[in-house]
Amino acid sequence: MTNQALVATAQALVADDKGILAMDESNPTCNKRFARLGIPQTSEAHRAYREMIVTTPSLGACISGAILYDETIRQTTSEGIPFVQAVIAAGIIPGVKVDAGAKDMAGHPGEKITEGLDGLRDRLKDYARLGLRFAKWRAVIVIGDGLPSRACIEANAQALARYAALCQEAGLLPIVEPEVLMDGEHSLAQCFAVTEQVLHTVFKQLYTQGVLPEAMLLKPNMVLPGLSCSRQDAAEAVAQATVRCFLRVVPAAVPGVMFLSGGQSAELASSRLNAMNVGFKSRVPWALSFSYGRALQQPAMETWAGQGTNVKVAQQALLQRARCNLAARRGEYRAAMEVTGS
Ligand code: 13P
Repeated sequence: MTNQALVATAQALVADDKGILAMDESNPTCNKRFARLGIPQTSEAHRAYREMIVTTPSLGACISGAILYDETIRQTTSEGIPFVQAVIAAGIIPGVKVDAGAKDMAGHPGEKITEGLDGLRDRLKDYARLGLRFAKWRAVIVIGDGLPSRACIEANAQALARYAALCQEAGLLPIVEPEVLMDGEHSLAQCFAVTEQVLHTVFKQLYTQGVLPEAMLLKPNMVLPGLSCSRQDAAEAVAQATVRCFLRVVPAAVPGVMFLSGGQSAELASSRLNAMNVGFKSRVPWALSFSYGRALQQPAMETWAGQGTNVKVAQQALLQRARCNLAARRGEYRAAMEVTGS
């Protein structure tokens, strides 16, 4: 695949005010969420849940791409259709999570390094053959006492850039996800400083390793106060801090900033994205979009609860979140949509 094709994929993923659905929870993460809702933690339950998602009528009107997990790619819907084909049939571009998870970093207590580079070139070739068009790699950065360390930021940035270069070589669009976690008591200003440092380092590594910025998407955290911070800033302040931070360090050539939700409530994730688009859409060079996991899926997962009889109403819950976030990209999200769904 040519670079032009990768650029076209990036453009398609940000087009028409749509965003990406992250449905790529690893088995341990998916099982943890299922366990909380009393859903069996089996491969068949993962399959049934993901079938509920990808067969949601009209999902493709709001969702441009879906990130799948390796297990899902090798499964079929109950009609025997491979998931990659079912996603394509829904008018959605299929992608895949390719990292092997964030592991404890040697010599750096409390910090993580994402693994998965070994053998990645061959795995990417297989994914491209299976019809996947883009990939995702997530790095995790913790804010805490003396954290993050430069070592953690540099090592994760280097791995992200090596992954992105391999993706572009294999003809898969890389989604580069450096996530500064929300956990902690830190302020909005502290999150700003760490996010700026992390993104600066990531883009320096991407440049050093020859990754084309036009042929990638960034999947970052919003600049937010920590979950346990006593001061929880308004959506407008979050929007302003996030855009100000990104204007300093994200190249204008990157087509889209696809935020993760990171544990925000579904409503907050919509209202903060909305505030960014209301305030800054016409003044920033990139699309301000979403690539949410929990903020799109959580209400649907709770409604589904492992019961086939709940599929239709769970699909409505998913579609509702997708519509709210499409509206947020347009700066047209209103709290009233949560009640009426209109
Ligand atoms: P959340 O939106 O739930 O943070 O998930 C996004 C994601 O893909 C994490 O890697």
